[in-house]
Amino acid sequence: MSDPSILERRNALLGEKAPIFYNEPVHLVRGEGVWLYGPNGEKYLDAYNNVPAVGHCHPHVVEALTKQASTLNVHTRYLDETILNYGERLVGTMDESLNRPFFVCTGTEANELAIRIAREATGGMGIIGTNNTYHGNSNTVMQLAYGRLKPKKRPHSPYFRYVPYPQLYRPPAPMSEAALAQAYAAEIQVAIDDFKKHNVKFAGMLICPIFANEGVPDVPAGYFEMLEQIVHEAGGVIIFDEVQSGFGRTGAMWAYEATGVVPDILTMGKPMGNGHPLAATVTTEELANKFQSNQRYFNTFGGNPVSCAVGAAVLDVIEDEGLLDRVNSTSAHLREGLEMLQKDFEIIGDIRNVGMFFAIEMVKNRFKKKPAKNAENRIVNSIKDKGVLLSSIGPEGNILKIRPPLPFTTDHADIVLEKLTECLIELSNDQ
Ligand SMILES: Cc1ncc(COP(=O)(O)O)c(C=O)c1O
Repeated sequence: MSDPSILERRNALLGEKAPIFYNEPVHLVRGEGVWLYGPNGEKYLDAYNNVPAVGHCHPHVVEALTKQASTLNVHTRYLDETILNYGERLVGTMDESLNRPFFVCTGTEANELAIRIAREATGGMGIIGTNNTYHGNSNTVMQLAYGRLKPKKRPHSPYFRYVPYPQLYRPPAPMSEAALAQAYAAEIQVAIDDFKKHNVKFAGMLICPIFANEGVPDVPAGYFEMLEQIVHEAGGVIIFDEVQSGFGRTGAMWAYEATGVVPDILTMGKPMGNGHPLAATVTTEELANKFQSNQRYFNTFGGNPVSCAVGAAVLDVIEDEGLLDRVNSTSAHLREGLEMLQKDFEIIGDIRNVGMFFAIEMVKNRFKKKPAKNAENRIVNSIKDKGVLLSSIGPEGNILKIRPPLPFTTDHADIVLEKLTECLIELSNDQ
């Protein structure tokens, strides 16, 4: 139980509409590894948080932060080897074409800068996103999220177009996978043609390569190759937002590796500093040069020595603790357990995952696939009372999201499966 006086203080200070999780909000005072603790000994298994990617309060990260904070913290306009060592190491995890990092503090800033680079390099303004996404909260980047709204309700954004995100589960019409990939790719061409019709020069397409906020759809094979061809032929650049999917989440360091497409610009954030505000936009030498010859970019806090020391410590942990292998083994185990559950519970319509990012789509009827909207809310709240934290995503909010810190083991996955089973039994008893 949360202390009501804290909720009252919060409502008074931040406003009752300030986003908060759960019908009965959770009060947390401490974190360690994949566990979170409340003030009265409450213990929660964290199956939700991707920002503390190498585990809450990881001692190696805390030590690196403390050491650098007690040595020097300035900004990127001085010569500093901590910054260079980290930047070189970071781009060393990517395709060699991606070799010019710009450090920022948030995913929003990373995408804002990516759009600026794309526009400067192409001389265009038009950006394409998907119809159910989120890439950040600045004035420009927020316009990508308007794709969530029905066309009539969208604020006028002349420089943005929205295409349906690709998915196998709910295709627009029955067709082969190859035809479906083609149909989704054709929508990109439609958006580019529409820019042309309105005299807007195309600058590029910005997407998350696992479509995280769209609900981690299974993407029809061939889609990404067609996307690459269409965008490049039209003179645009490809921006992959790996703010959610980067740093091992998918079982590879970068999600783009599985798409067959190397983006022109890669953005990252959330797990990069394990909770410390560190993010980046990485691009090619050619695009960076075009941008820097006409525009100056400086970010006061972005990539300061403390942030870079933290970022390097995160990379150490990913390597030293074999977290990519861990993601692959735990995710296979969890997927198997969820597929067993699906046999018993009709409400589980679809199970999708890329590494340790799971989407469990709840439906009223497997054949009609009508979203079971309230079920997800019931489960998220009741599994929290059983000591497991998870959440939901997707256009209808009917998709359970399991996206824990990467050190999650098969034992932790078994706890999730056990508690989820209890919730599903309760739910079916009530219906
Ligand atoms: C895919 C994606 N990109 C960008 C962002 C924005 O990141 P930030 O909140 O650090 O600005 C988010 C935030 O949820 C996100 O999910």
